[in-house]
Amino acid sequence: MAEFEQVFRKALSSKVGLLDRITHYLVRRKGKQLRPMLVFLSAKLHGTIGPTTHRGASFIEMIHTATLVHDDVVDDSYYRRGFLSLNALWKNKIAVLVGDYLLAKGQLLVTGAGEFQTLELVSEAVREMSEGELLQIEKARRLDIDEAVYYEIIRQKTASLITACCAVGASSVGAGEESIAWMKQLGYELGMAFQIKDDLFDYERINKTGKPSGIDIKEQKMTLPLIRALSEAGSADKRRLMRSIRSGNNDPGEVSKVLAFVWESGGVKYAEDVMNQHRAKASALLDPYGDHPAAEALRQLADFVVERDR
Ligand code: IPE
Ligand code: IPE
Ligand code: MG
Ligand code: MG
Repeated sequence: MAEFEQVFRKALSSKVGLLDRITHYLVRRKGKQLRPMLVFLSAKLHGTIGPTTHRGASFIEMIHTATLVHDDVVDDSYYRRGFLSLNALWKNKIAVLVGDYLLAKGQLLVTGAGEFQTLELVSEAVREMSEGELLQIEKARRLDIDEAVYYEIIRQKTASLITACCAVGASSVGAGEESIAWMKQLGYELGMAFQIKDDLFDYERINKTGKPSGIDIKEQKMTLPLIRALSEAGSADKRRLMRSIRSGNNDPGEVSKVLAFVWESGGVKYAEDVMNQHRAKASALLDPYGDHPAAEALRQLADFVVERDR
């Protein structure tokens, strides 16, 4: 990871003053770096980490950073990683352009080395992420997200890139198609658990993620705890709840009512159960690798995904 930091920082540099200031801001407020870790562990599980693995990890972390920068524009969110988001500090225009810059820099990093399998795996994920975000917006307008739609949204917007991490890692050390396909399943299970956990943070009064609580409801974004609570509610409760959600974007009191209902009706517990099922499937996929040190680390990472507090 120490070596990765260097590669990542260097890959982001720009001669344009404003861009350089902004990328410095981003690098200093780095996140958990879960995706590069996944790339490295997936590589180590199948071979020896080299420059191709590093470029893959940097590319993915750049794409991830770009999606967060754009996501905060899309979600009108002013905090990220405990600091002001780019759209809060520099406005939407600049955030949109910086996101595009990160995408292009990442692509150049891997195409410059002729690593087209990495490019293909990651581009596939980028397409899915965009589709997932748009599906979410389309569905949020009508508040008609059921469990199946929710799973499809999070598979696309989050699990797809985590899937790419596992596949790129394995591919970067020359693993065969069968191993890559196996690792994609692992990424899927980890990614689903990861986003369900992320959505659960929104139901905590105080969370340490550096992102505001209750913002999903405020933005009328229906996630698993709420979807479950609604599907279990009687018709009177349901009508009342829908009214609160509709007025939640300008009334914090209504958001609190929704939060309380979801907790009381077991929606949070249900989402935790589903999340843990994905974690268990992820662990099971590592069984064939026995006690390989990278497999052990990946099991710990699966636990971290569901136990983390940020
Ligand atoms: C946040 O991802 C976006 C989601 C897919 C939920 P992370 O929680 O991995 O973000 P950082 O990089 O650690 O801030
Ligand atoms: C995560 O979406 C960003 C992407 C996967 C593109 P969210 O809007 O749910 O994530 P946070 O909670 O703001 O990080
Ligand atoms: Mg968001
Ligand atoms: Mg979003």
